[in-house]
Amino acid sequence: MIKKIATKDLTLGMFVTDVGRSWLNHPWKSKTRLLSDPAEIRELLDYGIEEVYIDTEKSKIKQARPKTTAAPTLAQARMASAKPAQPPSKPPEVTSELERELPKAYKAYSKALDTSKALVAACYMNKRIEVSEVQENVDELVESVSRNQDALTALIKLRRFDDYTYTHCLNVSVLSISTGKALGLSDEDLRVLGMGTMFHDLGKTRIPAYILNKPGKLTDQEFEIMRTHAALSAEIILEQKLNVDDLVIKVARYHHERMDGSGYPDHLKGNEIPNLATICGLSDVYDALTSDRVYHKGKLPHDALKFIYSLRGTHFEPSWVDRFVQSVGIYPPGSVVELNSGHVGVVMEINHGSLLCPIIKVVADPNGVISNRPKLVNLKDYASNGGWSIKRVIPPSEAGFDPAYYFNMKE
Ligand SMILES: [Fe+2]
Ligand SMILES: [Fe+2]
Repeated sequence: MIKKIATKDLTLGMFVTDVGRSWLNHPWKSKTRLLSDPAEIRELLDYGIEEVYIDTEKSKIKQARPKTTAAPTLAQARMASAKPAQPPSKPPEVTSELERELPKAYKAYSKALDTSKALVAACYMNKRIEVSEVQENVDELVESVSRNQDALTALIKLRRFDDYTYTHCLNVSVLSISTGKALGLSDEDLRVLGMGTMFHDLGKTRIPAYILNKPGKLTDQEFEIMRTHAALSAEIILEQKLNVDDLVIKVARYHHERMDGSGYPDHLKGNEIPNLATICGLSDVYDALTSDRVYHKGKLPHDALKFIYSLRGTHFEPSWVDRFVQSVGIYPPGSVVELNSGHVGVVMEINHGSLLCPIIKVVADPNGVISNRPKLVNLKDYASNGGWSIKRVIPPSEAGFDPAYYFNMKE
């Protein structure tokens, strides 16, 4: 007799005759199988298959057995082996280009972070800026982005470095280079963009600390002073007579200019604003919104993008906003997401052509049990026929595990 049964109620010895999906959407080579391993049931659940058909004739558990010897259901097995939500101890496998790039990206980022720190310190102390060192680091960032567009941006998300000013300059640089790469800019333009963004907020070193670190809202007068930082960033480069492209100075001076003329310091409009300054402006807003500050928690990336989207057509040219969203991705690598099936996954890679369907590692089942063998799933392949989709983003503080664990982060 053919019987429909909930997948969670399957027991070993049952003969599955149909999983109710096309062969593309289930984990087995054939739709029929005599269950002999709990992992087979888990695989079905991992694929979001909630019901299957069994053939009671072919099943090897026709006779009711005493409770003590009955094969355990997966739910019982889970109860018996319930563990706290910790990732398995085995190191994760390297499964993608992004993961292969991460160690190199980490090296380049750490080095550039030291340089960014030294750059800010030099400005505070009115010391000479070593421009060649900054350029060398920017070149390494450009090389990393050329090998893989998303590894460095994933790193920003996965590793939170404390101090705001110098990490912000570097993060804006990384985001901008990655976006510039997606837009097809030449390596030369990427190098200029990388330099301009590294310098973009150096003028803040000349803003009084009580304004810079004020937790509450700035007064109109304080805001006026704060707004001078963009022109001051350009001034620092000019004062030091740094040997840089003119556009580096423009990126620094114009990163707060907005399409409708509401920006500062020169109230430029539309295409008076250099493209590289627009990229810096978008990355700047995104990083400021997603970063934790002393007095507010950073927004989730997709909420920050929603906000940036609201500036489409006023502060930023619509096509530039679209390109930026395309580059950063709605669910950047490192995001923890809950699927419509209740499974929890970590975003490993962006599908730049299909932003709602990234590549994820399914790390926990709907009961919150962490998998020993997290499955890598391209949501694009599962999007049709009511398959898996992302239901919500889980804030890092609620995930119960560190998503960085699932990336190959070591040097
Ligand atoms: Fe700024
Ligand atoms: Fe900034």
